[in-house]
Amino acid sequence: MDLSSQDFDIIRDYIQRVSGISFSREKVYLIQQRLEPLVSAAGCRDFSELSRKLVHDDSVQLRNDVILSITTNETSFFRDVHPFEAFRTTILPELADRIRRRKAAFPGGGSPTKAHILSTGASTGQEPYSIAILVHEFTAGQSGSNITPQDFNILATDISKKVLQKAMAGEYTKSEVDRGLSEKRRAAFFTESGKTWRLRDDIRNMVRWHQLNIIEPYAIFGIKCDVIFCRNMMIYFDDATKRRVFDTLSRLLTDEGHLFLGAMENTYMLTDKFESVRMGDTLVYRKRKTG
Ligand SMILES: C[S@@+](CC[C@H](N)C(=O)[O-])C[C@H]1O[C@@H](n2cnc3c(N)ncnc32)[C@H](O)[C@@H]1O
Repeated sequence: MDLSSQDFDIIRDYIQRVSGISFSREKVYLIQQRLEPLVSAAGCRDFSELSRKLVHDDSVQLRNDVILSITTNETSFFRDVHPFEAFRTTILPELADRIRRRKAAFPGGGSPTKAHILSTGASTGQEPYSIAILVHEFTAGQSGSNITPQDFNILATDISKKVLQKAMAGEYTKSEVDRGLSEKRRAAFFTESGKTWRLRDDIRNMVRWHQLNIIEPYAIFGIKCDVIFCRNMMIYFDDATKRRVFDTLSRLLTDEGHLFLGAMENTYMLTDKFESVRMGDTLVYRKRKTG
C-alpha cells in the first residue's frame, strides 16, 4: 500500500506527539509495514484516509492501536545480565540499609519506610518480574533481619495497554522463559501448565501496574523512587523528547537514587542532571549534586 510523503509527515508527527517516538524519512517502510494492518482495522481504505482520521479523530482507542503497532516490545528476563547483577550485589544491600533507617525514623511504617522501584517502559513484564525475583531472593537470604518483600514497592508502567495486560497475567511461553532465566529460577518461580509457564502468585503480586505515557505530565505518585529502570525505550525518542524524559526522571528520583538505562542509551549531550558511576560491569546513573 502506497504512503505519500505528505501522509508520512502527518502520521510521523502524530506518533511523535502521542508517544515521543521519532522516525526519520528513511523509516517510511517501517511505518508502512507496521501500520498497514491498522488501515483496514480502523475502517480506512488507504494511508491517506488514516492520516485524515488521525488529524480529526484523536480517540483513545485509535491512539492505543497506533502505539501498539509502532512500539517495539522486545524484552527478556534479566536482560543484559550486568545491570541486574549490580542491582543484586550493590543496590539491594543499600536499599535494605535505607529501609532500616526509614523504619527507625517512621515507626508507624507504611509508604515512607519502603524502597520504591520504578520500571518504566516495562513491556510484557520480564524486567519488573526480574527485579521482584531478586528482591524475593535477597529478602529470603536475610533471615533474622526484619526486611521483607513487603518493604519494596515495585511499580511497572508502559504506554501500551496490550503489553500491560500480558504482563499482569504473568504467563509466558517456553521460549520467553528460556530467555534469561536459569533452570533453577525457572523451576523455583514458574509452574508449567500446557504451553504456558505461570509465574508464582507471590512474585506476581509484588508488582503494581500502571498504563503511563512517560512524556505526558507526570503525577503517578507523591513519593520519589529509589531506583528507576528506564531501559531500551528512549532509543526510539528524538533528543528533545529524551531531554524532557530525563527531566522527569530526575524529578522522580531521590537524591541518593539510581537510574538504569539500556545498553545503547546514555545521557551524553542530553542532560547534566545525572552522572554515571561504574558498578561491576555496568554503568548506573545518579543525580549530579548541585552547589
Ligand atoms: C523495547 S521495550 C523495553 C522493555 C524493557 N524495559 C527492557 O529493557 O527489556 C520498550 C517499551 O517502551 C514502551 N514505550 C514506548 N514509548 C513509551 C512512552 N512514551 N511511555 C511509556 N512507555 C513507552 C513500549 O510500549 C515498549 O513496551
